[in-house]
Amino acid sequence: MITIKNLHAYYGTIEALKGISLNIAKGKITCLIGSNGAGKSSLLKSISGACSRTGEILFKGSDIVALTPQKVANLGVAHVPEGRHIFPGLTVKENLEVGTVTWRGFFGNSPYNEELEDVYNLFPRLRERADQLGWSLSGGEQQMLAIGRALMARPEVLLLDEPSMGLAPLVIAELFDKIVDINRKKHLTILLVEQNAKLAMKTADYTYVLERGKITIEGPSEQVRNDARVIQSYLGKFARADRN
Ligand SMILES: Nc1ncnc2c1ncn2[C@@H]1O[C@H](COP(=O)(O)OP(=O)(O)O)[C@@H](O)[C@H]1O
Ligand SMILES: [Mg+2]
Repeated sequence: MITIKNLHAYYGTIEALKGISLNIAKGKITCLIGSNGAGKSSLLKSISGACSRTGEILFKGSDIVALTPQKVANLGVAHVPEGRHIFPGLTVKENLEVGTVTWRGFFGNSPYNEELEDVYNLFPRLRERADQLGWSLSGGEQQMLAIGRALMARPEVLLLDEPSMGLAPLVIAELFDKIVDINRKKHLTILLVEQNAKLAMKTADYTYVLERGKITIEGPSEQVRNDARVIQSYLGKFARADRN
């Protein structure tokens, strides 16, 4: 679905990605793990057009590396950013409606009931809270809303940046069941970025490890989670706390 070749990302003179190549297979969950500052968010921002970058990003065969964020979103790539970024002063329903601008335009009047029903069926909590303002939701509900808003765009690919961040273990487990549901039932291709390596590799079919802007290890998740280097740095009892 997406093939990336020799991708570099920059913030001024800082080079956050130093020549990355990877493949996001259609219909699968691919994950990218790595510690804080490795470049995970920069990779997602590069795909969705939100940071300065060079290289090749082929989406269904065409290079999207030079496109604006709006064009990339319109093609069917939905980005759920780190920290959710929902609109605090809009209701849950209005936040979801924002997701439809990719195909309805800003003032479009085509109906979106079907998409809304789909999201409400996936996250019944959002239906219950439809008229509540964004700021009043719990962290878990805000994450559901951010994912729901992305689904409203009718995407083909979902980019998820650290969905587990700051959430309680039970909430995380519930959320990850939904992420698997979205992949299996809606056949959506997912790129999942996580510092929580254990959880990410349990969820994903294929895993990439990113360290200081470079991919150092890759393979089917089952294989990567048994790799001695991954166990030592990301899973073992001596792994740094911020890598769990
Ligand atoms: N807006 C920014 N301006 C300058 N440097 C940035 C910016 N965002 C990220 N960086 C730097 O780029 C590198 C990768 O960051 P990031 O992609 O956010 O990592 P991760 O998501 O893996 O924690 C880090 O060294 C970080 O300090
Ligand atoms: Mg990040």
